[in-house]
Amino acid sequence: PSDETPSTVAAAGSDALTQDFESIHAEVVRLRAEIARHDDLYYKHAAPELTDRMYDELVLRLRELEAAHPELVDAESPTAKVGSDRDERFRSVPHSRPMISLQNSYDPAEVAAFDARVRKVLGVDEVLYTVEPKIDGVAVAVRYVDGVLDLGLTRGDGTKGDDITANVATFAEIPTELPAGWSRAFAGKPPAAFEIRGEAYLAYPRFREINAARERSGLEPFANPRNATAGTLKTLDPAVVEARGLSVFFYQIIPLDDASGPATHRDEMAALKALGLPVNPFLRQAAGADAIASHLQELDRLRDGLDYQIDGAVIKVDDITLHSRLGATAKAPRWGLAYKFAAEEAATVLEAITLQVGRTGVITPVAELSPVSLAGSTVSRATLHNWDELERKDVRVGDTVIVAKGGDIIPKVLRVDLELRPAAAVSQPVPEVCPVCGAHTVRPEGEVAVRCPNRACPAQAAGRLRHFVSRDACDIEGLGGKHIDMFLELGVVTGPADLFRLAVADLEPLPGWGEKSAASLVAAVGRCRNRPWANKIFALGIPNVGITTATTLARKYHNHSELANSSEKELELLPDVGPVVAKTVRLYFDTPETADQLADLMSVGFFLPQEEIPPEPPRSGDGYFAGRTFVLTGTLAGMARPEARRRIEALGGKVTGSVSKQTDAVIAGEDPGGKVDKATALGVEIIDETDFFSRLEAEEQVCMPAGDSIWRSTCREAAAWSWSMYLSKICPRRAGLTR
Ligand code: IVH
Repeated sequence: PSDETPSTVAAAGSDALTQDFESIHAEVVRLRAEIARHDDLYYKHAAPELTDRMYDELVLRLRELEAAHPELVDAESPTAKVGSDRDERFRSVPHSRPMISLQNSYDPAEVAAFDARVRKVLGVDEVLYTVEPKIDGVAVAVRYVDGVLDLGLTRGDGTKGDDITANVATFAEIPTELPAGWSRAFAGKPPAAFEIRGEAYLAYPRFREINAARERSGLEPFANPRNATAGTLKTLDPAVVEARGLSVFFYQIIPLDDASGPATHRDEMAALKALGLPVNPFLRQAAGADAIASHLQELDRLRDGLDYQIDGAVIKVDDITLHSRLGATAKAPRWGLAYKFAAEEAATVLEAITLQVGRTGVITPVAELSPVSLAGSTVSRATLHNWDELERKDVRVGDTVIVAKGGDIIPKVLRVDLELRPAAAVSQPVPEVCPVCGAHTVRPEGEVAVRCPNRACPAQAAGRLRHFVSRDACDIEGLGGKHIDMFLELGVVTGPADLFRLAVADLEPLPGWGEKSAASLVAAVGRCRNRPWANKIFALGIPNVGITTATTLARKYHNHSELANSSEKELELLPDVGPVVAKTVRLYFDTPETADQLADLMSVGFFLPQEEIPPEPPRSGDGYFAGRTFVLTGTLAGMARPEARRRIEALGGKVTGSVSKQTDAVIAGEDPGGKVDKATALGVEIIDETDFFSRLEAEEQVCMPAGDSIWRSTCREAAAWSWSMYLSKICPRRAGLTR
């Protein structure tokens, strides 16, 4: 992804109050775009470019600016939303309650401040907390109805998740039916339906085995266990998920009916255990900040010996009945805190800087290091990102550099130890020629990227082919980077269209190929003619066009010729396109070499006259809530206020704090107070809780568990595979039902 959009990390430290408004506005816009991009890299692609800390600094800066300038506050700002891992290939299902995140902290002083805040809100001198590991995996929510596995969801955008039931059902540790007597795990009345939440992860030994096998068969290894977990959960074939052997730790139970849940977090963990579900063995109790700090140290010492990745600890108020009194912001509850451990660092010598040429010609410097042990593995390469960063950090060959792991197994060079700089250390000049094809490089004004302009450059050709076969593009499993390099080297293919011309007889004689693997590749290539149109557009590798933009384009232009003939003006008007992307799209289609490549793809039947068009996103423009302003007042018995707000906003409405002529309706819970009187005086509509819930439900196309009729006929997006998989694999008891 770094090949597409050069990173522009915001300059930190400028004073929010002395900047003029225009530049603040510009900074806010830039920060929002930058954070949204990193959210995408983290949640959608599981390939972060920043360490958590660097990311949090960007968010902190944006928060600071928004706090100083309330007029710039926007419900769409990443500070108001949880990042999204939504994936259009999966059915989207609303969460029983939002899946929000936790506030991060890096310093014991922040933990003490958290404790002080909690004590203040609760008005007590001492609070009992729990401390447990923060598993570095992927959040999952799993529902059981009458002891039977009913639904598995990803976090998604926090409000709705992707339906991964069929995949969740393959986990060895997640029973499709709870053991008899499961209801005894609950102290009071057992809930007929409940949800458990936890973190799916891949243990290091499995991770290493999987990567070794991938490398043997020429596939790209996964960058880290979290990335492997995220990719696996979003696999369409549950058999693949089963073979990967994911694990999970649960940490939360939510009753979905009127049964009351556990009273403390320790009871909650005990109940999960009694249900036969996996919970992490490390759970400590702590009264106050000092006790918390000592457990944090204990966990930090233990973490190297664990066979799964943790990135910190989670501190929770043990008494769950206090949680609602502490409340939540849009992003995180006030009853919990994540404490992130410092990334491990190591010093080593930078032996050389090599150059990597990506598919769009961007040349990236790579640090070749004297091997050093870091966080459980030996490191000999690190990324240097781009030439600006290289200059800013003044990194020279021969220097002793400090490296750390961010989210990836590919570490980053943090800084140089200047005291150890040898006299002979040399800087790496910006390359004037491409290291692969020798073409003169270009560096457009104001860009950090240095490019090889030669589209025929072998490195670019390889990069384009890798992109063409990648998961979000044509998803040709079994064709890895090493195969592509070999095909190009032997002249078996020169570009994507040649893949369609491959016959079993061409592949069979090649080293490492046999009749079976050749036939399965030929079949896989043939199948990608039927890939959804959005994935095909993405596969073209148009600069600045990620899968989201490709989906927007696919909705507007229904086949290749419509897209190729689009106008810049029209493109600019599309959601998340804008002038820059519109220009690059036009430039792409107007370049003669691209036109040749597209004609070639046309000749092999890659483009179809009728492509598979992505469904329109759920419409929020024409319901009761869309475009209207609401005020919430009184206590809503069935829903916390932040949730009510989020759901109204998801349907296109706005929620404000006070009643005025601009208010369209007041939603009144119990004991509503003065706002209802004011609304009556102003003639503003007042709706009660029941009315509010039924309007919400009518528009949300809810798919909630309710005995055997869990799938409402309004779930238009339900994919057939998911349903049949559900019936055959997960819940044979329900086989025979039809939608
Ligand atoms: S409790 C309101 N406990 O970290 C969210 N989360 O940054 C309460 N995580 O969304 C979450 N280990 O995906 C909790 N022991 C743990 C966790 C944990 C990992 C993840 C989870 C959560 C994220 C918050």
